[in-house]
Amino acid sequence: MVIAPSLLASNLGRIADEVKRAEKSGADWIHIDIMDGHFVPNLTFGPDIVKAIRSCTKMFLDVHLMCSKPEILLEPFAEAGANCLTVHTELGADAELLLYKIHSLGLMAGLAINPPTTMSTTENFLKLIDLLLVMTVNPGYGGQPFVHETVPKILQAYKWREELNLSYRIEVDGGINFETVEEVAKAGADTIVSGTGLFKQHNMKVAIKKMRKIAVNSAPNNQEKLENSKKFTFERFR
Ligand code: DX5
Ligand code: ZN
Repeated sequence: MVIAPSLLASNLGRIADEVKRAEKSGADWIHIDIMDGHFVPNLTFGPDIVKAIRSCTKMFLDVHLMCSKPEILLEPFAEAGANCLTVHTELGADAELLLYKIHSLGLMAGLAINPPTTMSTTENFLKLIDLLLVMTVNPGYGGQPFVHETVPKILQAYKWREELNLSYRIEVDGGINFETVEEVAKAGADTIVSGTGLFKQHNMKVAIKKMRKIAVNSAPNNQEKLENSKKFTFERFR
């Protein structure tokens, strides 16, 4: 089970301290939301910020590109020190080239899907990805309520992974807290992004431990088998 605090909910005036707080609190990854003011109606971080984050941690940097033109950003974010780059299935057929490009840069490649988008748009890409990010809110802002209607997508992602004998991680992002984490983990999510649910907690260490415990206890039985599998992609990119 990977727990990935989303930096968007941190104290942005003290990013370095916040990254270290997450690391010391037992976070596995740091989730970094890149918003371009076009794909989503908000603006966040560029490659220089990711580079600054990389200079203060060895943690796995999970970079979520909510961008209309990710093709111009893949190399800059790879050079900045990202470990995983995730692009959206809403970009259509272009996603395939982007996924190849991310792999050619030596990084994990993720594909994200928004709540209103049908899962069939991801089907052609499943064999190309290391991570499938099921958005559990409409992207653009932190602190939004969890969209329960997205849970069948997590179940579908899990079912496909079993049936096709694939090993992509199943990540969830948006509105994840101590209440909602149980439902997503039960459905098969193994990579939990949480912004408000973790960074806004007074004691992040306790919060991560609690969230991990709920998630692990709710996970389907073969979680352990999957985590230990040698072909499991995460290990290749650690
Ligand atoms: C939403 C972002 C999320 C966001 C999650 O567009 O992709 O990563 O930071 O924040 P919470 O956990 O507060 O919903
Ligand atoms: Zn995100």
